[in-house]
Amino acid sequence: MFTMELFGPRQTILVTCRGKAEVLGMEQEKDNAIAIAWHMPLSFEPMMYAIAVAKQRFSYKLIKESKVFCVNFMPNKMLDEVVFCGTHSGAHTDKLIDAGLHSEDCDKIHCQKLIDALGWLECEVVEEIEVGDHVMFTAKVLASNLQKEAKRPFHITGDKFTTTTD
Ligand SMILES: Cc1cc2nc3c(=O)[nH]c(=O)nc-3n(C[C@H](O)[C@H](O)[C@H](O)COP(=O)(O)O)c2cc1C
Repeated sequence: MFTMELFGPRQTILVTCRGKAEVLGMEQEKDNAIAIAWHMPLSFEPMMYAIAVAKQRFSYKLIKESKVFCVNFMPNKMLDEVVFCGTHSGAHTDKLIDAGLHSEDCDKIHCQKLIDALGWLECEVVEEIEVGDHVMFTAKVLASNLQKEAKRPFHITGDKFTTTTD
């Protein structure tokens, strides 16, 4: 029988994205963050990265329209914030505020990155590939930075997580 445990623990990141959304009946630019366990590096030269996003996610609409996103590698001590962003939709809430996340503008893309992240990839979408119930966004990494190292959160299944050892 298929079980998520087959994939082993998967590092869970927060992907930030930005786009137009209706806020209090008016169209406004909105920042959002989604927890993603399905992601991978694709190429060194050019540096490419991929994320798999289900079509019903609010973030899917934002990334599809803006064609950019930022990968934020989070520390395990922020697991609660990561899970919050993986269990609430930004369609009706301001997740960055509700999760207590601090952000600033990216250098190369029109999007925010999370200040508490260990590192970032600023990504520009190259291709959107339909792969079943998820869509794979392949993206060129326009800027990357690893600013510190710490234990990272890894998703096992359901609400089970593990982390790396020192
Ligand atoms: C640990 C974890 C990993 C997740 N990984 C993915 C993923 O790889 N792709 C995806 O589409 N959704 C994933 N999700 C679900 C989304 O994060 C969740 O549906 C989120 O509320 C969507 O937010 P949005 O509607 O604001 O985009 C994951 C959730 C959790 C808790």
